[in-house]
Amino acid sequence: VLVIGLGEIGVNVAEYVKKHGFDTYGYDLNKKKMTLAKKLGIKKAINFREFDVYIICVSTHDPHDISRPQMNNIFSVAKKLSKEGREGALVAIESTVSIGVTRKICTLLSHRMHVVHAGHRFYNQEKEIHGVNQPRLMGGVYDCCLSSGLEFYGGKDIHGDHSHLGIPMYKVSSAEVSELSRIVENSYRYLQIAFAEELFLVCKEHRIDFKELREAANTKWNIQILEARDGIGGHCLPACMKMYVESAKSSLLLKSAFQTDQIYRNFVTPLAHD
Ligand SMILES: NC(=O)c1ccc[n+]([C@@H]2O[C@H](COP(=O)([O-])OP(=O)(O)OC[C@H]3O[C@@H](n4cnc5c(N)ncnc54)[C@H](O)[C@@H]3O)[C@@H](O)[C@H]2O)c1
Repeated sequence: VLVIGLGEIGVNVAEYVKKHGFDTYGYDLNKKKMTLAKKLGIKKAINFREFDVYIICVSTHDPHDISRPQMNNIFSVAKKLSKEGREGALVAIESTVSIGVTRKICTLLSHRMHVVHAGHRFYNQEKEIHGVNQPRLMGGVYDCCLSSGLEFYGGKDIHGDHSHLGIPMYKVSSAEVSELSRIVENSYRYLQIAFAEELFLVCKEHRIDFKELREAANTKWNIQILEARDGIGGHCLPACMKMYVESAKSSLLLKSAFQTDQIYRNFVTPLAHD
């Protein structure tokens, strides 16, 4: 198995795959990441030849603006795979990608390999329950791709002992469903946080204690208003929100949520420096 991209996701994936008895290799453009992985027993791949499984975990955001999605890395990996990848192998894309990327990669590879999207829901603060071995989605470009992917990872209907990695995978009908679901999961969270931020500002306007209001509203069985903290940070939520906005041209909600987050940040940043 070759894990391509050994950052936060890739190094954990490679470690997990190795623990499950596979001869595991890694590849990263960043030497430091490679050195770190080698310390965990992951061997360095010299090229992409002769692997049965390729797991792609490269970054999919602009390094100069982490909130901007960018698919260059994933396509450069696909180009290298098209020259060196083994025919009939499985290519599993675990990176978060824009809709249609998995299918484009399969086309680039002339479907000489099986291509699935198996996006990640990794949360490094709770790796035991929200790490590599948590329920995830998988969608294939073709049925044969999905079968190959489920056989390696494990499928919803397959008992643990039939699968290689024992990861509970929920299969969906296409790679696009899997890609969009990953984007939607983070966009939904973005929206929920932005709503809390807006409520915080509304409370300020009316001299109401936001904490008290939130606790009061959350006593209702189907309400769960989140906390408003420092603004929506990191790359996962903002980049996914932008991927969603790019793919849903009629969407107004997330554009407003983005503006709300900007207004909220402008409000709380001076307070943090007081
Ligand atoms: N970190 C998370 O909690 C998380 C959760 C869910 C999904 N994701 C998604 O998983 C993917 C990886 O995220 P991450 O947090 O591990 O990113 P990261 O920035 O920590 O690591 C990405 C790695 O990919 C390497 N890389 C980039 N281009 C490469 C190339 N062409 N060939 C080889 N290596 C290359 C980089 O050097 C880097 O080490 C992203 O798409 C991200 O959106 C991340």
